Amino acid sequence: MSFSVGGGGAGGPGGVLSSFGTGSDARISGRVLLRLMQFVTPHGLQLVIAMALMMVAAGAQLVAPYLMKVAFDQNITQGDMHGLIGTSILLAGTISFGYLASAVRDYVLSWIGQQVLFTLRGRLFNHLQALSVAYHDRTIIGVTISRVVNDVSVINDLLSQGLVTMLGDSVTLIGTIVVMLAMETRLALLTFCIIPIMAAATMIFSKHARVAFRQTREKLGAVVGDLAENITGMRVIQAFAQEENTHDRFEKINRANRDVNITATTLSFIFLPSVDILSITATCVVLWAGGIMVAQGLATIGVVVAFLAYVSRFFDPIRDLSQLFNTLQAATAGGERVLELLDTRPEVVDRPGATGIDTIDGEIELRDVSFSYNKEREILHDVNLHIEPGDVIALVGPTGAGKSSIANLIGRFYDTTKGAVLIDGRDVRDITQVSYHKHMGIVPQDPFLFGGTISDNIRFGKPDASDDEVRAAASLANADNFIELLPEGYDTRIMEGGVNLSVGQRQLICIARAVLVDPRILIMDEATSSVDTVTEALIQDALERLLKGRTSIVIAHRLSTVRHATRIYVVDDGRIAEQGSHAELLSLRGIYRDLYDRQFISQKQMAA
Ligand SMILES: Nc1ncnc2c1ncn2[C@@H]1O[C@H](COP(=O)(O)OP(=O)(O)OP(=O)(O)O)[C@@H](O)[C@H]1O
Ligand SMILES: [Mg+2]
Repeated sequence: MSFSVGGGGAGGPGGVLSSFGTGSDARISGRVLLRLMQFVTPHGLQLVIAMALMMVAAGAQLVAPYLMKVAFDQNITQGDMHGLIGTSILLAGTISFGYLASAVRDYVLSWIGQQVLFTLRGRLFNHLQALSVAYHDRTIIGVTISRVVNDVSVINDLLSQGLVTMLGDSVTLIGTIVVMLAMETRLALLTFCIIPIMAAATMIFSKHARVAFRQTREKLGAVVGDLAENITGMRVIQAFAQEENTHDRFEKINRANRDVNITATTLSFIFLPSVDILSITATCVVLWAGGIMVAQGLATIGVVVAFLAYVSRFFDPIRDLSQLFNTLQAATAGGERVLELLDTRPEVVDRPGATGIDTIDGEIELRDVSFSYNKEREILHDVNLHIEPGDVIALVGPTGAGKSSIANLIGRFYDTTKGAVLIDGRDVRDITQVSYHKHMGIVPQDPFLFGGTISDNIRFGKPDASDDEVRAAASLANADNFIELLPEGYDTRIMEGGVNLSVGQRQLICIARAVLVDPRILIMDEATSSVDTVTEALIQDALERLLKGRTSIVIAHRLSTVRHATRIYVVDDGRIAEQGSHAELLSLRGIYRDLYDRQFISQKQMAA
């Protein structure tokens, strides 16, 4: 491998974001490396071919100088010009063949590398889809992305640098030493005196380089992280006129990045010429001592020429082998993070013996349900609620009370910590998640849209829906009005995060997406919170017609939205504080009444 600086180095391009990871950087784990190599085994044949080519290339490296010796000792000095032509052709053939073999070896290795990356990324993606929402809650997106994009590339480094160095360079080095000793022992031993100096120099360099390269990765990670956050928050920065402060902060990080890179460059700057000087010194020693030996008749010219050639090939493998430690270390660190992700088990799992459901009536019950996202704090306490099939129930209550959490449990994105969620009298844990989710339509509180067109987004849950079905769903959600006014209508491309639509428009598309799948259970979490009240009323009328016979759970802060619900549950601090119809709750004169009066009064004040 090379000593390139700046994002390269032992970590390869993978270093950029992988420094966000937690893997320890200080050791090599054989177990991790072995597990990583398992991904390579399906391509065993290609690997064997690559290794054979590696041996051929190493062999050619060893034979070429020997042929030079033959040319001098047996052809030139003997005046055998005919033989010289033959040896020269053989030499040219050997060298070309060696280069060809190493080129094909590199090709095969990178072919294997790409196959492995492909499989591994596919597996990681599947795994990410299988992991529960809880995993994605607690993991920064950047970290997950860096696992799938960067950390997997260590497999490539392992193949291209680890393997080539470990096998190819060892063979070249040992072979060279053996051949040199066999050819002329005294001259060989004299030349090898350089090895300890070389080894010491590389070891010192490696030690510093390890730290320096790790720092370049970390600092670059910091630059990327800060940049990403500031770009996302640009509107806030500008609104609060904080450009100067954020610039200062970025400059600090940017400067740190520059400094560690200069340190790393300095190291390379000192090391590379040192190696060259050592290499030239060795060459001179061979020339000088070899020359004396030739003069004294102790060695032939051919031996000296061959030695000069061997010495020039001697240092690359030593240098590469000294870097092997770094390569394996980086591979361990990155590989560990990939394996850790693959080993993460989903929190929500189907119970053994769970079965699928083809049809459901839509009866939902929460029986003595307690729930916490993490062990530290219980969010829901002994919640009981019962929804008959076809009922529309509403959850209202203060911010942070636990309404979305109840919806999350009904949607089975999390499991209860105590008690059970029952669907048609069956514990949801006994129903397979995939079959259960097929009966559900959800409009999340955060109206998330994918890149692609508006109709792609509406069609998301039912990819084979016809254009007419898409239009019908949009019209039901009252989204058709604004969509048809767009120049490209349903083919309008949605930009990342849906920024080219208003929040209310995004909500309408989410409603259309949910109703298109014709769900038995519909969960609407603040589905119309950003939509004007007139449109909201229109949607409600339409939904009322559509949702006949379906169970729906509506979460809303605007109480006008929920007054027609069969039953309204007031959630307060993780408990069901009140329940009943709109009229019943008003006469109760409790929390609901209080909320209602406040909203009503503020509306009246606005009207006045
Ligand atoms: N993913 C999560 N991890 C940890 N805690 C969470 C998570 N989601 C919500 N909480 C906590 O659970 C509590 C209930 O949140 P929930 O989202 O259910 O409230 P909500 O009633 O829907 O509020 P809002 O009306 O603001 O939407 C809050 O205190 C919140 O901090
Ligand atoms: Mg909520």
